[in-house]
Amino acid sequence: TARKILVEFQEACETPLPRLRQVVDAMAVEMHAGLVSEGGSKLKMLPTFIDRLPNGSEKGLYYAVDLGGTNFRVLRVQLGGLEGRVIKQEYEEVAIPPELMLGTSEQLFHFIAKELAGFVAREGEEFRLGDGQSREIGFTFSFPCKQTAVNSGTLLQWTKGFKVNDAIGQDVVAALQKCIERLGCKMRIAALVNDTVGTLAGGRYWNNDVMIAVILGTGTNACYVERAESISKWTGELPKSGQMVINMEWGNFWSSHLPRTYVDELLDSESLHPGEYGFEKMISGMYLGDCVRRVLVRMAQEAGIFGPHVPHTLLESFSLQTPEMSRMHHDDSSDLKVVAEVLKRLYGIQNTTVGIRKIVVAVCDTTCQRGARLAAAGIVGILKKIGRDGSTANGLMRRNDTNGIHDELSVNSTPGSGKTVVAMDGGLYEHYSKFRNYMQEAVRELLGDASKNVSIELSKDGSGIGAALLAASYAEYVPS
Ligand code: BG6
Ligand code: GLC
Repeated sequence: TARKILVEFQEACETPLPRLRQVVDAMAVEMHAGLVSEGGSKLKMLPTFIDRLPNGSEKGLYYAVDLGGTNFRVLRVQLGGLEGRVIKQEYEEVAIPPELMLGTSEQLFHFIAKELAGFVAREGEEFRLGDGQSREIGFTFSFPCKQTAVNSGTLLQWTKGFKVNDAIGQDVVAALQKCIERLGCKMRIAALVNDTVGTLAGGRYWNNDVMIAVILGTGTNACYVERAESISKWTGELPKSGQMVINMEWGNFWSSHLPRTYVDELLDSESLHPGEYGFEKMISGMYLGDCVRRVLVRMAQEAGIFGPHVPHTLLESFSLQTPEMSRMHHDDSSDLKVVAEVLKRLYGIQNTTVGIRKIVVAVCDTTCQRGARLAAAGIVGILKKIGRDGSTANGLMRRNDTNGIHDELSVNSTPGSGKTVVAMDGGLYEHYSKFRNYMQEAVRELLGDASKNVSIELSKDGSGIGAALLAASYAEYVPS
């Protein structure tokens, strides 16, 4: 009956092309709805106040802090302008103490400020400030914020493994700035930046064709360059550039076309944020391993695949993390040694047959493939929304048309290059090659011929530099 459970799961997870196309369409429709009114869609479609992206001319010394992925980072970037580009980049990285992810806002922001102050205290003479100067920082904060300016925004909710309740509704920039000042540091937060937005800025710095950025890591999300006129819910003045970067928070996307299973329901109801971020829970690194674990639990309970007793550690949420799932999935030894080793090390399961190990790999494959194909549909949904999916006569060709919307969208692009680049970052995409391959394959399937005009490029750790670049663009103090 383990095989029966497997087949049932595989069928429930299927994402054949017609179904994926429905997800693509739903994404494009929801994007539109989210731009029209606040609460118009589960897609928050948050205006970021970023109306111009780096172009290479940024110059000077800037800092960034980066919170929200696996590691917390502090960076210092020296920008040399058009000729020099990034002259030097240094960073320190620490894992976030787990208790801070569930503690108080005061503890969390104090921790960030302390790391930042330590980093600055350790730096050399050459970075000494002149009188009246203060260091400008970009704050990458990878959670949904309702921004009121480039450098202010209130936290709407927590996602992933964070739940610091008293921070919800707070201006996270003001909270961090207060802690920085209390430590006597002369630093000013010039920009609040989602990791997708940092990745977009970092990608655009090197390549004018970057229009979209996607994170596939602990969480998943995307941002892109939208025509300001299309943001009907925007009540402020229209930016001169005619553009605005939108943080979609696509992790919270939902559509009845998504292949939801009993596993997703269980995972959601036992999660830190029930009822929220359903798309993220089917795709991202924080959850994939746990989806697999839940299918294995069912096989252990109902079909006894691991013997008469269900190993108790297997019942623990998140005991199977995505990197271990990926190792099992990539096991190419004939007797699946790696699978045996992982099951033994994590759960004390001994003597599995090759047949059982194959079933485990198949569960990994189904879960990985579903997530990757849904992420692909998300990307193609954005391409569709901005007319770059080749589906209409107006698509790619309209970029050179003076009245066409794509002309405006590509004001900073090389005229007529015809390419759309998606800047990608995150550990899931970077390290899980089967996930990456499934995703790229699905993008090609969905786009057909138009796929030659779209490229997805890894922009590793771009979001820290991107935040520093945005701090440079939006800083008050402009170094000479
Ligand atoms: C990093 C960004 O490069 O990628 C982070 O700087 C981001 O802000 C991260 O959250 C995503 O990676 P992961 O895989 O650690 O969640
Ligand atoms: C979560 C966050 C989002 C972030 C993404 C990737 O979905 O809500 O802001 O961009 O994770 O880190």
